[in-house]
Amino acid sequence: APSVQPPSPPLRTSEGDEKYANVKWEELGFALTPTDCMYVAKCRQGGSFTEGKIVPYGDISISPCSPILNYGQGLFEGLKAYRTEDDRVLLFRPHLNALRMQDGAERLCMTPPSVEHFVEAAKQTVLANKKWVPPPGKGALYLRPLLIGSGANLGVAPAPEYTFLIYASPVGDYHKGSSGLNLKVDHKHHRAHSSGTGGVKSCTNYSPVNCEIVGEAKSSGFSDVLFLDAATGRNIEEASTCNIFIVKGNIVSTPPTSGTILPGITRKSISELALDIGYQVQERDVSVDELLDAEEVFCTGTAVVVKAVETVTFHDKKVKYRTGEEALSKKLHSMLTSIQTGLVEDTKGWMV
Ligand code: COI
Repeated sequence: APSVQPPSPPLRTSEGDEKYANVKWEELGFALTPTDCMYVAKCRQGGSFTEGKIVPYGDISISPCSPILNYGQGLFEGLKAYRTEDDRVLLFRPHLNALRMQDGAERLCMTPPSVEHFVEAAKQTVLANKKWVPPPGKGALYLRPLLIGSGANLGVAPAPEYTFLIYASPVGDYHKGSSGLNLKVDHKHHRAHSSGTGGVKSCTNYSPVNCEIVGEAKSSGFSDVLFLDAATGRNIEEASTCNIFIVKGNIVSTPPTSGTILPGITRKSISELALDIGYQVQERDVSVDELLDAEEVFCTGTAVVVKAVETVTFHDKKVKYRTGEEALSKKLHSMLTSIQTGLVEDTKGWMV
C-alpha cells in the first residue's frame, strides 16, 4: 500500500462567521449548490499521495489525454454529513466508502487513498464547508469523492497520475415531492454483466444507462428504471441510482452482491436494521415474478436514502404496493435517519 502523508489542516475559508450559508434550505432537492471548498490530493502511479489540500471549489485543469477523459478510468463515491440538534456534524460510515473506493481502484488499476486518508479528507471537506451543512432535518451535505486517472496517457494503460478529490453540495430529497417511486422494469438493456464493473462504483456504469434509457423512462412519467440480470433476464438487479428490496410477510429479500450489483452502504445498513427488528433478511436471486408478487418494495441508496416503491411496470403489467405509514420502509427510514441525525443514540458506532 502506498504510504500517505497526513493531509494539511483545513483552511478557514468560509467567509464571515455566520453559522449558515445563504441557501433556501426548504427548496433543496438533489442538485449542485456549489460550496466554498474542495479537497484535492495527487499521486503518481504506484507512489504515494501528495499532501492533500483544501482549495477553493472550482474547475480543475486536466490533460485532454487523461485516461478518465479518454477511457473512463474513474470512480466516484457518495456520502452524507448531517447536522444534529446540538450542532454536531456527523458523517455516516465513511470507512465503508473508503473500502469500496479501494475495491474499485484495484479493479481499475488505480492507486487509492488509504482508509485513514479518505476519512480524514472527508472530515476536512465537511469542516471547511460547515456552514453549508443544512439545519437539522432539512437535508445533508453530500460529499462526492472522485478518484480519477488524470495524468496523460495516449495508449490504453493506467494513468501515470491520479487525482483524489472531494467536493460537496447541500442536498435534500433525491425524488423531491414524490411519495413513492414508479419503476419501469427494462427488459432490453442491462446495467452490468458478470465479470464486468457493476460491483464497483466506476463512472462508466452510469452514463450508458442514465442518459438515454432512464431519460426516456422519466419522460414517460417513471421515477427510475429497474434492470434485470444479463445472464438470464429473469432476476432483478438494481435501479440506475439505488439498490432494491422486496418484502413478503416476515422476509425481506434483496439481490446478492455477486459482482453485478453495487454493494450499497445504505443497503447493508438497512439489512442490519431489518434484522434488528425481527425480519428475516435474505440476499439471494429475486425473480421478476417475485417482485410482481411482493407486498412491498423499496429502494435504498445514499442519495435516495430509503424510498418506498409505489408501482412497478413490466411490459404492460403494472403492480401497486403498500406504502405510507404501514410500510416497513417507513419504519426503516425513520430508524436510519434517527441514527444519522443524532436523534437516537448511535449504538452501532456508525457515525463519525
Ligand atoms: C449515491 O446514492 O450516492 C449515488 O452515488 C447515486 C447517484 C448516481 C446519485
